[in-house]
Amino acid sequence: MDGPAASGKGSLARRMAQKLGYAHLDTGLIYRAVGVKLIEAGGDLARAPEIAAALAPEDLARADLRSAEAGSAASRVAVIPEVRAALLDWQRRFAHRPPYGAAGAVLDGRDIGTVVCPEAPAKIFVVADPMVRAERRWRELRETDPSADLKTILEDLLLRDARDSARAAAPLKQADDALLLDTTNLTIDEAVAQALSFAAPRLSGGPEASDPVV
Ligand code: DC
Repeated sequence: MDGPAASGKGSLARRMAQKLGYAHLDTGLIYRAVGVKLIEAGGDLARAPEIAAALAPEDLARADLRSAEAGSAASRVAVIPEVRAALLDWQRRFAHRPPYGAAGAVLDGRDIGTVVCPEAPAKIFVVADPMVRAERRWRELRETDPSADLKTILEDLLLRDARDSARAAAPLKQADDALLLDTTNLTIDEAVAQALSFAAPRLSGGPEASDPVV
């Protein structure tokens, strides 16, 4: 599952994984962890590949990965091809051998359908209107930061969209065989229902298309 920041793909991927009994990997967290560790190490982008190569599972459990700073740092390290290469095997291993013996995996990010799992049986590209995405992110951030400012968040999202889409290495792009799912006017339940009715028939061993999906 791919899409721009705050498009709803994270909640959708988590809910789909629950419904299907699959493992879920939010690949943005990996880039966020590299970004945060790089800031702590002094911020020199030349060190990002070595930090990515040494990333440990516990780095993904840090409490500070959801901040706006972490998102922006992630987007900056994500343009570096050596960083992406260091994180590729990690993501592919998760997809092909999901933890806890799960029968499958849902990965969400920017290049899952195009680069990480081009052979995935079900791909979804999630989009939403930028202002709606900014409001969603603002509501999320406001819970921990009452000073979160909607205009700044919108500007940051548009900057990240441009950086994620324009980069040479694995840019944000809809795979040819992905379903385009616009969540602007959908509730999470409606989005999950549409995503599952597309994905379920394509997944071997998954629920049948006729099974209730919400
Ligand atoms: O989905 P997110 O906002 O947590 O992602 C943070 C940044 O990480 C995003 O701006 C780009 C980068 N990223 C990426 O390049 N490839 C991925 N598969 C996931 C995230």
